[in-house]
Amino acid sequence: HKRVAILISGGGSNMLALVRDMAGDHPARPVLVASNDPEAAGLARAADLGIETAAVDHRPFGKDRAAFEAALTERLERARPDIICLAGFMRILTPGFISRWEGRMLNIHPSLLPKYRGLHTHARAIEAGDAEHGCSVHEVTAELDGGPVLGQARVRIEAGDTPDDLAARVLVQEHRLYPMVLRRFAVGDRRPVLL
Ligand code: GAR
Repeated sequence: HKRVAILISGGGSNMLALVRDMAGDHPARPVLVASNDPEAAGLARAADLGIETAAVDHRPFGKDRAAFEAALTERLERARPDIICLAGFMRILTPGFISRWEGRMLNIHPSLLPKYRGLHTHARAIEAGDAEHGCSVHEVTAELDGGPVLGQARVRIEAGDTPDDLAARVLVQEHRLYPMVLRRFAVGDRRPVLL
């Protein structure tokens, strides 16, 4: 089995979708769920499932991203992951950290990349009058939300949608998409998943 570490910052619903899929004949297994926020609800959920968890709080490091990343790297390396999945991990990573895991790190982003990199993607899609929106899983490269796209799921924007309405419908698709991409990626299949 490929060893998968998942990095979260919040509720961890994508992490749970990945973990639930990694069973039986799946080519990968979760070996660590780590968060920059010790209070992230997802950490307790992962622990309840018997998965090793770690908190590497970014706050004591202040603006020193490299020192935070060194601590995170040290913790990750102890788990010997083959693949790292960012799942609602809300810290920007420096090129130094990314190059350490390049080709082995995935992220899920709540937009149809290359549209709407960064934050507030649902509000921006509504504001722009887009007919559709969605989510993307991509390989992490030094360019923020800019690496090769390995999968996308589309969601129609309905009249009157608030950003929260849209986020909730996109999240349902995230939970379908990310596990499908990881199953392929774990066996070296990088053909995009299009939902
Ligand atoms: C998800 O919608 C994910 O796409 C988004 O945060 C949410 C995390 O939810 N990620 C980003 O915005 C990354 N910049 P979760 O903790 O329930 O998986």
